[in-house]
Amino acid sequence: MGAAPLINIAVDGFSSCGKSTLAKQLAQRLGYTYIDSGAMYRAVALYVIENGLVHDGRLDREGLLSRLDAIRIQFTHDPGTGRSTTLLNGRNVERRIRGMDVSRHVTLVSPVPEVRAKLVRLQQEMGRGKGVVMDGRDIGTVVFPDAEVKLYMTARPEVRARRRYDELKARGVEVDYASVLENIERRDEDDTKRAADPLIKAPDAVEIDNSDIDREQQFDLAMKVVSGVLAKVGME
Ligand code: DC
Repeated sequence: MGAAPLINIAVDGFSSCGKSTLAKQLAQRLGYTYIDSGAMYRAVALYVIENGLVHDGRLDREGLLSRLDAIRIQFTHDPGTGRSTTLLNGRNVERRIRGMDVSRHVTLVSPVPEVRAKLVRLQQEMGRGKGVVMDGRDIGTVVFPDAEVKLYMTARPEVRARRRYDELKARGVEVDYASVLENIERRDEDDTKRAADPLIKAPDAVEIDNSDIDREQQFDLAMKVVSGVLAKVGME
């Protein structure tokens, strides 16, 4: 029997939908590489913050474009945590890019077509050898339009807000539910309405609404889809 065929898996969906949880589970089960494309947009947001390219909440777009070639984003494996680590120009920024200031600034850089073109090119290079599970907003539509498996995750905004609220509370962050819900609804709007590569379901994506199912049920559903495709690809 030959080795199992390698495929690419695109996991797209709204914010706080459990995309990364599912993508990591799939990568672990299959022995694939998990890539968090959102981390790359977050790293660019950190770069503009640290390099004085934001003034009064507005992006110095020309400044960013003139320095785009100087922004180097890589991932390495951290043997200490067993997790993937994001590097910005060689520096470990994994923790830093999860902060609230980066979350607030990321929508300044994610709609810029030149930023998207650069990151999409990098993401496509990472997937060239297959065996990648990548999560984001435009993976099945723009980055890997030929991905063998495309999953599109949704959940009701109130359910996502409740999960995010519980997660923040558990980390000791002081928040109120109403503002978490409002932030999620605003980001849904930003992600779906932007002109460049908005979040849309690819016609050949399988939708998973996880409002009323748990992680294991969601993983089983996704693995059924993946196993079906692997069996088919293996027979070709
Ligand atoms: O998945 P996340 O919340 O870490 O993503 C951070 C931001 O980057 C979010 O505002 C949407 C944007 N993003 C994007 O535009 N395209 C992607 N492929 C991934 C993320």
